[in-house]
Amino acid sequence: MEHLTPGIPATEYEQRRKALMDRLPEKSTVVLMGGRTKYMSRNIFYKFRQESNFWYLTGMQEPDAALILEKDHSPRGYKMTMFVEPRQMTKEVWDGPTCGLDGAEKIFRADEGLMNDPSVMLNYIKSALARCEHLFVDLPTQVSIPRQSMRSPRLSIHDFLAPPSPTGFDLFVRKTDFENVIRLLSDRRNTHSLQREMDRLRVRKSPNELAVMRQAGSISGQAMAQVMRACRPGLLESEAQAVFEYECAKSGAERPAYVPVFASGRNALMIHYVRNDGVLGERDVMSVDAGCEFRGYVSDITRTMPTSADGRFTPAQRDLYEALLRVLKGCTALATEQQGYTLSGVHRRSVEMLSVELRDLGFHLGFGTLERVLYPHYIGHWLGIDLHDVSTVERATRLQEGMVFTVEPGLYIPDDPAYPAAFRGLGMRVEDDVAVGYSDYTVLSSEAPKEVADIEAVCGGRI
Ligand code: GLY
Ligand code: MN
Ligand code: MN
Repeated sequence: MEHLTPGIPATEYEQRRKALMDRLPEKSTVVLMGGRTKYMSRNIFYKFRQESNFWYLTGMQEPDAALILEKDHSPRGYKMTMFVEPRQMTKEVWDGPTCGLDGAEKIFRADEGLMNDPSVMLNYIKSALARCEHLFVDLPTQVSIPRQSMRSPRLSIHDFLAPPSPTGFDLFVRKTDFENVIRLLSDRRNTHSLQREMDRLRVRKSPNELAVMRQAGSISGQAMAQVMRACRPGLLESEAQAVFEYECAKSGAERPAYVPVFASGRNALMIHYVRNDGVLGERDVMSVDAGCEFRGYVSDITRTMPTSADGRFTPAQRDLYEALLRVLKGCTALATEQQGYTLSGVHRRSVEMLSVELRDLGFHLGFGTLERVLYPHYIGHWLGIDLHDVSTVERATRLQEGMVFTVEPGLYIPDDPAYPAAFRGLGMRVEDDVAVGYSDYTVLSSEAPKEVADIEAVCGGRI
């Protein structure tokens, strides 16, 4: 089978586009901008990452492209037009070859490849809009802004003076071009969010996607084991991070899936600790939340490991960790279609299980303390091309075969006399990636050791 991108055949990309267009009513048009190069400062760019929906529908890895799909009565069911950077010999000397207009048709199977010039695109969009009755697009204002976190509930002046550019609409470099397009796209009654449609397709993974995600999990899991082997008092958190990233890169990962957490000692009380500049202590634990992106899909794993020279947990560390591990396993066991759970149902169970575990460890919890203080985050999130994948799919959706989500219970015990002394100052989380089956499930991150005996053996250098 001819693979357009490693692990995914060209026919699957065709099926994805067809599945999208089959969902949409007659006379529907989809307008989707590809990703753009992002800059760290002036002309210093970051490594390019394609916009996730564009990647899902085309498999194309070049910046500044755009895609228009128009539902019709052709054998294919739609017309596919791609706007791409034309080939330019002078540019190729610097950046290497691009697919060009020809490649858009021959490699990516567009019916028509056109130049990604703003005026060409504008003219095309104008005539496409005249032909269609339903437009599926995400305008900048429709793009869902990530939920405001508890830490920064206010809008910042940055939101006004430096608006983010979550879609590729700033491809229209001249202000008038941009305004024309926005007017064209937004001045319609039948404009709908494309993201919602995409998320409903992307939430269930195909066997090929699951195979790639299993590899992403396996690579990150093995890298996590190497971090455990390197773990010892005096090591820098950043050295442990370098071990993880080196191992992932060596196995072919494209990049880290997110800024990772390497939090030892008290640093682990900060859920999003990313400074990673501490030194591992004599008898602490380190929580590592890290994952790689491999062939366009991410993994997201957390493990908690002892930092001691002999690789052993203290009794209190082990007790708390084992409580967490039982909750991880209990929640993972709910990941089947047959049982009819939703993600919110799994979360509710995690709260119930954790409160029983903590009671058994001697905690006396007031009403709401667990969810407000000790376990203030959710049990998990959908996972796929994006780390927090398909965010328009409600947590109240029933789990179905092919869905992938994370299970990540955590406990963060403040240094407060309200809690048993032995556990104060401990922060721990454990996180697996789980694929839902009809009557079973698959842990995609199983290479990362998580049983106490395995962690201690790996950390102690015995395996
Ligand atoms: N590493 C981010 C998360 O677990 O969602
Ligand atoms: Mn994570
Ligand atoms: Mn996660």
